[in-house]
Parts: sequence; structure tokens; C-alpha cells
Amino acid sequence: MRKPLLAGNWKMNKTNAEIPGFFEAFFDAVGSAAELFGKRADIVFAVPYTLLANAISATVGRGVAIAAQNVHGSEGGAFTGEISISMLTEVGVAMVLVGHSERRQYYGENDASVAEKTKAALDRGVVPIVCVGETLAEREARHTDAVLQEQMDRVTPLIDATGNTIIAYEPVWAIGSGLTATPAQAQAAHHFIREIVRERCGNAAADELRILYGGSAKPENVAELLKQPDIDGGLVGGASLNPKHFAAMVLSCLES
Ligand code: PGA
Repeated sequence: MRKPLLAGNWKMNKTNAEIPGFFEAFFDAVGSAAELFGKRADIVFAVPYTLLANAISATVGRGVAIAAQNVHGSEGGAFTGEISISMLTEVGVAMVLVGHSERRQYYGENDASVAEKTKAALDRGVVPIVCVGETLAEREARHTDAVLQEQMDRVTPLIDATGNTIIAYEPVWAIGSGLTATPAQAQAAHHFIREIVRERCGNAAADELRILYGGSAKPENVAELLKQPDIDGGLVGGASLNPKHFAAMVLSCLES
């Protein structure tokens, strides 16, 4: 049985000054259900680098994990402006987003760098959340499966039955657009991804793999999405910035 996981992706939003107020409001809104964090569902916040240490202190012992939004694939060296996995583990980061479509679109990340980063994370015991997904043009041209197949190609050999790699299916056309994939569209893509993993890595790896949906997920649609058999959670951008909205989604996730 795969444990659901709900991750907020704050992107380039919020400051350290907002951290205490955000988590106070979030834990208030979740109430005693917070006791189920880590047991019934994993709850994660992917925050900007400069907020990591404070987000970790604000949530220590409260059952949530703090993730970075990116990492470099190398251990160190002349890479101005980059952050390595050991720099993340030093401050207590447990997970990292890899290959978010905004990284692919604006910062030239590609399937090769995504695989390198994924491997770097796994080698140091950090759980990578690897993002894949097609653009609107690709969907309209009926290339969704081909795009997913290609994006999964280099990362699939790194997936094993430990469940330590997480995939986020985020159709680019649904991110921040208010358009959500229908539960049926999302389920089809998730199933396709799981079968890629089944074919190359076997049943145990496929059955353990958590696949999150991302793209305008919000309190109103999350329950329906989570009902789909291959949807194991969500990666939430806009709606995770509001502690009450995200708390409502967390409650749905705990009930799923
Ligand atoms: P959104 O973003 O929920 O605002 O669409 C999701 C994401 O980019 O991870």
C-alpha cells in the first residue's frame, strides 16, 4: 500500500519573516489530524533555499518534511550560484524537487541533468521528486505518451523497490493556469508512467513508486484526483501558499 504524499511547492515566494505565521496558521487549521502526519500521509514543503533552515526549525518534531526545489548534480566545484546535495543534507533537507518544468523551460534543464541530480540525491539518501509532463502543444499533437516515455527514459533505471524515488506528473499546461487535468487524464498518464517502470524495473518497483499529480491542484479538486488508483498524492504550487487552503488539501489527503 503506497502512503499518499502531499507536497507544497512555494516556488520563489515567501520570506523568513513569514515562516512562523505560516506554520502557526497551518498547524492550527490541521488541528489534531497533524498526529497522522508520516503515518497516514507524508506532508512536505518545498521552499526556497534561504528558507530551508528556518522551515526545518519551525517544523521539527511535527511530522512534516522540508524539501529544496533544486540541487546541482555535482558534489562541489566551480558552479557559481549552485547548491550541492551535501549542502542540503547539512541543514536537514530530506527531499528535493528535480526537473520541475519551470527549471526545464527557463534554465535549460534536460533529461540528462535531471538524471544526474536524481542520482546525486539518491546517493546521499535524499528523496528526489522528479517532475515530468507534456506541454499543451505536445498533448494536442497526441505526443503525451512519447514525451513521458522520453522524460522517464534516463531516470527509470534509478528507480527500485525501495520507493525512494518519487515522480510528479505535472502537465505543463495545467501549472499555474487554473486548468487542471481531469482525473481521467491524470490517471491515464500516471498509469502509463507506472507501466514504464514496471516494464524496466519490475513489479515491486512499480508497485512501490509514488506518483504525484501537479497542476492547479486545489482544495476543490484534490479529493477526486486522489481517488484515482495511480495517483498517490500531489505537488501543489499556488494553493500551498495559503496555509488554510493547503491544510484543507492535507486533510483530504489524510482521508484518501
Ligand atoms: P500550481 O503549480 O499548483 O500552481 O499549478 C504546481 C507546480 O508547479 O508544482
